[in-house]
Amino acid sequence: MKRKKIAVVGGGQIGGILALLVAQKELGDLVILDIPDKENFIKGKALDIMQMRPNDGVDVALSGNSDFSAMEGSDVVLVTAGMPRKPGMSRDDLLNINLNIIRNVADQVKQHAPNALVIITTNPLDAMVYAFYKLSGLPKAQVVGMAGALDGARFRTFIAMETELSVQDVSCLVMGGHGPSMVPLVRTATVGGVPITDLLSAEQIQAIVKRTQDAGTELVKLYETGSAYFSTASAVIEMAEAYLKDKQRVIPSAALCEGEYGVNGLFLGVPAVIGGTGVERILEFELSSEEREMLDATVAAVSKTVEETGL
Ligand code: APR
Repeated sequence: MKRKKIAVVGGGQIGGILALLVAQKELGDLVILDIPDKENFIKGKALDIMQMRPNDGVDVALSGNSDFSAMEGSDVVLVTAGMPRKPGMSRDDLLNINLNIIRNVADQVKQHAPNALVIITTNPLDAMVYAFYKLSGLPKAQVVGMAGALDGARFRTFIAMETELSVQDVSCLVMGGHGPSMVPLVRTATVGGVPITDLLSAEQIQAIVKRTQDAGTELVKLYETGSAYFSTASAVIEMAEAYLKDKQRVIPSAALCEGEYGVNGLFLGVPAVIGGTGVERILEFELSSEEREMLDATVAAVSKTVEETGL
């Protein structure tokens, strides 16, 4: 059996951790791509991780390149190219800078890896995944944004911290945009199947919801020079692994809605089935009137940033 091939576009903070996780989980051979100025740096990262393999006992090959033709034949392309947030910036402040980068990346992926599943991480996520889809012309099943996998992991983390129960037993769904308008759905949150409303007070739950919505900003303030990268990379890998192993996982992801939840033509955080052909379908369920209202507000926020791309 031939090994899978994974391309990481942007070998910065998230890209470096992605490379590490791909190698340690032995998901496939990996190429890190970045701008010519960073070529030595990413070659260094690839070589450094190559030298972990004897101790980790994994057989995958890693390399770095600024020539995007090196992504030829990739099964998965993980896009992290772009500027991260600094304190005081919203994700939307990154729009113009990162849109130009995504334009270039979309061109390259279309040329060199048109059959790959492309997972976008670059912020503002909801606008960047839409832009990539429009500019690359790839089918909707092959383009997805990483948002809910991380927002859900944050919601689960805070529930586990507050209940002092295992994070492994916490399950929940976060829908909507990857920003403060996201909708952590309290009624879907359980620990070992027990609703959190039976374990925590309304005030505790409200505080957890708010902390989840602001979790990215909390880290930007702590890091001072950039945004989250360990948890971000881990969430991307969860999605990539679901595809590479045809797991049929249900992962909240920014997927193209064409009528689902009454939304048309927008990438929105929805429960998506990820399997061997990419985003295979979106699961739908009835929302309460209060949830519907929150979803409408997040759809309005996402539409606004998408409009700013002019695409
Ligand atoms: N092609 C390839 N790589 C590029 C390009 C390009 N056109 N433009 C920039 N890059 C690279 C940078 O050189 C850098 O190495 O993208 C990398 C980004 O890395 P960091 O600055 O460390 O940013 P990181 O924390 O990894 O975040 C990347 O993901 O979550 C989002 O908001 C975050 O938009 C940001 C992105």
